Amino acid sequence: MTNNQQKTRWQKLWAWLKKPLIVGIPIGVFVLVLGLATVQGSLVLSSTNEFCFSCHLKMDTIVQEYKASSHYGDGSNIAATCADCHVPHPYFEMLQVKIAATADIYHMMVGTITKENFEEHRPALAETVWRDMQANDSANCRHCHQGDNFDLSKQPQRARLNHQQIAARGETCVDCHQGLTHKRIVIE
Ligand code: HEC
Ligand code: HEC
Ligand code: HEC
Ligand code: HEC
Repeated sequence: MTNNQQKTRWQKLWAWLKKPLIVGIPIGVFVLVLGLATVQGSLVLSSTNEFCFSCHLKMDTIVQEYKASSHYGDGSNIAATCADCHVPHPYFEMLQVKIAATADIYHMMVGTITKENFEEHRPALAETVWRDMQANDSANCRHCHQGDNFDLSKQPQRARLNHQQIAARGETCVDCHQGLTHKRIVIE
């Protein structure tokens, strides 16, 4: 076999491979991008108020309470969405919460929580949220209330005196600010 013959064999092979590759690579990239866009798209969509409302309007009074709270304002200039407070910002924690939340779809379908029994379930749900927020030092609150948005020198005295103590006492926002967006729950 001469060198020349070998070369043409490789050339033939390449010519044979080239076509599907030229078509295949762009298709592969397209499918990948579409897939990633779909995942990212559902992550973004599932962080909208509409998404949270879609279940919580039917099963409890959470949405009505939120709409009457300071963070909803008059609805035109919303200070914080449900997800702003409840969905973590770090990407992997956010994914964890979203994957865990798929269990809620099951609970929604079997009707574990209804408007009738919500108040019985409520203290346990609230405690879950407080525990999460205590564990991450109310990271979602601090995401907005920091720097110029949490300037102690501009706060009324009562707020300032309390906030000055936070670090020394090892407190976090939800230790004091409970029932800010939802009905105040007192657990004995
Ligand atoms: C598919 C229906 C559904 C959707 C959509 C939904 N939830 Fe829920 N959610 C539930 C159910 C059901 C529970 C009660 C779960 C249980 O039994 O522990 C719950 C509980 C909660 C709790 C309290 C307990 C906990 O796990 O922390 C919070 C906070 C919460 N949801 C926030 C949200 C937010 C924020 C959104 C939008 C980003 C949202 N939910 C969208 C069904 C839903
Ligand atoms: C997405 C940004 C954002 C997040 C997240 C957020 N806030 Fe706020 N918060 C605001 C803005 C903006 C205002 C001013 C609203 C107004 O009164 O017009 C406000 C107002 C407040 C007030 C004063 C009004 C009142 O009702 O007393 C308190 C207290 C407060 N936030 C605490 C918290 C706590 C605690 C958390 C976490 C559980 C939190 N915030 C999460 C943006 C945010
Ligand atoms: C030791 C209890 C305590 C802790 C912890 C605490 N606060 Fe407060 N906060 C208060 C009190 C008391 C007020 C004044 C409320 C009033 O007078 O009605 C206040 C007021 C506020 C206000 C309104 C300030 C204004 O200008 O009127 C905001 C915003 C706020 N807190 C956010 C936070 C955030 C965010 C955290 C966590 C970083 C936090 N607070 C932690 C007790 C606390
Ligand atoms: C400003 C931050 C903030 C916003 C906005 C917010 N929540 Fe909460 N949520 C909390 C905190 C803090 C708790 C813990 C209980 C408490 O202090 O009221 C809580 C508790 C809950 C609970 C447990 C039951 C209960 O009554 O405590 C559910 C369910 C819930 N939130 C869902 C939602 C949904 C759905 C939305 C939007 C309609 C929303 N939250 C908007 C901060 C927020």
